[in-house]
Amino acid sequence: METITIKVGPKTFILDKTKAEEAFANKRVINGRESMFFNILPLKYQWAYDLYKTMKNNHWEPEDIPMQKDCEQWRDQTGQITEIDRWIVKMAIGYFSAAEGIVGDNIIHVVREVVTAPELKLVLGRHAHEENIHADSLVYMISSLGINPHECEAMFEDIPTIEKKANFVVSNSRGLRRKLDLTKLEDKQALAHNIFLFGQCMEGTQFYGLFGMVLSLYRQNKFPGIGQMFRYTLRDESNHIDLFRNLLLELVSENPDIWTPAFKEELRQLMVTAVTLEKEFIRDCLPVNGIGLSSKEFEQYIDFIADRRLRNCGLDPLTTDVVNPFPWLSEMMDLKKEQNFFEGRVTEYQKQGALEVVNDDEL
Ligand SMILES: [Fe+2]
Ligand SMILES: [Fe+2]
Repeated sequence: METITIKVGPKTFILDKTKAEEAFANKRVINGRESMFFNILPLKYQWAYDLYKTMKNNHWEPEDIPMQKDCEQWRDQTGQITEIDRWIVKMAIGYFSAAEGIVGDNIIHVVREVVTAPELKLVLGRHAHEENIHADSLVYMISSLGINPHECEAMFEDIPTIEKKANFVVSNSRGLRRKLDLTKLEDKQALAHNIFLFGQCMEGTQFYGLFGMVLSLYRQNKFPGIGQMFRYTLRDESNHIDLFRNLLLELVSENPDIWTPAFKEELRQLMVTAVTLEKEFIRDCLPVNGIGLSSKEFEQYIDFIADRRLRNCGLDPLTTDVVNPFPWLSEMMDLKKEQNFFEGRVTEYQKQGALEVVNDDEL
């Protein structure tokens, strides 16, 4: 039997050459061979396996982050913490409590369901789990601060601009469940549309209005535990955005018929809608001026992020040369610069070398 030797990180594997080549050749993002054996080796999508390892090494647990200071501030009567500050926290908890579940459901019921290569399923499973961690962190915030969860839920359900943001993604995801025939171009494009919608429009752009608000509070030394959890979440989100971007690009490279000029324009228009809904939400719900930011700059920040997502997918931006009005926000999202960030029990999850890994996607 002829063999080949493959290396994955420090490990070496000897595989049957014919079988390995056949397995490799049959790996596809969609319409590849599906077998009961979870055949990760030989790796075809090395980036997916590497990203899985990075995500795993970034593991964090909400309860490891102290909330004492947040609880004291929540009860503050001296005026140091304002009702606007509390509103932002409740809004963030309310929105993300629903959004984490929506993203997780779409991975499990749509994307992971139809993707065939095992290493892609592996990293998507980790992605879904990280949404659970994020959802759990919100429960931890609610219980620590003594917030009535129904109050946060009501924010999600009763505010029309939030409802529109939710419908924008949920209607697409529900419509695709178990209905895709991936031999048809139309359905392959529907999947690509879904991957772009969730990765770049929702997680990549529509999360950033509230992220910006929460980190603005953190910058003012308000709610440090919550701010820290959101920073961990943001680091995870930047991996999710990369994952869905890579998945889209691989899908398109294996199925070039998807990538027509009309389809590319469809995705750009999807981003136009995402940006419009996010700006409506910001105007309606986020007291940007109340925490010392300019609402014009805040909307410019959303334009900046959206264009970055489009360019990363090989699509034309919506504006020309829009600059990031909040460079401090990028600084705050770059966890490497924070020397003591991993102090305490959280470090126990870190494997050797994990702190060296920094996502090059600043936002
Ligand atoms: Fe998340
Ligand atoms: Fe995510």
